[in-house]
Amino acid sequence: MKKFFSVADVDSLDAIVKEALELKANPNAHEALGKHKMLGLVFLNPSLRTRLSTQKAALNLGMNVMVMNMDKDGWALETQDGVVMNGTTVEHIREAAAVMGEYCDILGLRSFPSLKDKEADYNEDLFNKFIKFCGVPVVSLESATRHPLQSLTDLITITEHKQIAKPKVVLAWAPHVKALPQAVPNSFAEWMSKAQEQGLVDFTIAHPAGYELADEFTTGATITHKLDEALADADFVYVKNWSSYKEYGEVYPVNENWMMDNQKLKLTNDAKVMHCLPVRRDLELSSEILDGPNSLVIKEASNRVWAAQVVLKRMLESLN
Ligand code: CP
Repeated sequence: MKKFFSVADVDSLDAIVKEALELKANPNAHEALGKHKMLGLVFLNPSLRTRLSTQKAALNLGMNVMVMNMDKDGWALETQDGVVMNGTTVEHIREAAAVMGEYCDILGLRSFPSLKDKEADYNEDLFNKFIKFCGVPVVSLESATRHPLQSLTDLITITEHKQIAKPKVVLAWAPHVKALPQAVPNSFAEWMSKAQEQGLVDFTIAHPAGYELADEFTTGATITHKLDEALADADFVYVKNWSSYKEYGEVYPVNENWMMDNQKLKLTNDAKVMHCLPVRRDLELSSEILDGPNSLVIKEASNRVWAAQVVLKRMLESLN
């Protein structure tokens, strides 16, 4: 594996989940694989889970890790070509990425969208330039449009906890106080759509009008504006806020109550509730659910290690 950016970088969902669960059962089985190999993790935005779980995964594989908080510790980065750099940017991504590629065998990058320039965000301009100029395999730690390590984690978690062969999985929009990216819901929808294609889940998306995701991510999903209808017989509810894709980055007032709570849980098939975290308690998701027996959020966060480890393992195998 030379790149892990979207579900398109994985052939068989079944096979990668199985391999991740084998690593979970035996975390240090491949600790010789990463000996003398360097992983560089580059953050342009904050992170708790991605930062720590990916480091832990790399250490389990015997790798060394360097972390660069580019937003705080790096030079101000220029990403546009053909500009005279006489303003605030100090270093061009062409040099910065190429230099990091000299120091590392594998690189990870986190880069959020602007939520202002839809075209630049959805073209993944910065990410593509980073891949092009660094010259080593790159794992996405979340890009403008996708969060594949989170989505792989979510599929692993659903596989571990499902009670039937083809569970009903609902992606449910939730309220928030600020405009959030579409990366997590896009990615979850993209992975669940492929899982549905492969007969692994039955996938529904529920959101208020105006919050439609881009069509490319939702192929085959049932889409509704009625949360109660979507929740009927649900086995898993994946709670997440996102801002509008159509009116890019906008947040519309929503009058109905879209926060997942115990009342809504009663509509489901005793569903397990998931969220990628961080979560705003009693705004996106009720405390009673988060602290109750149906919540999978901590187990889900724990599984971030195995998603990262299987991806790094496949990248290391492609180096050797
Ligand atoms: N879910 C997730 O990616 O968490 P962090 O932003 O803390 O890494």
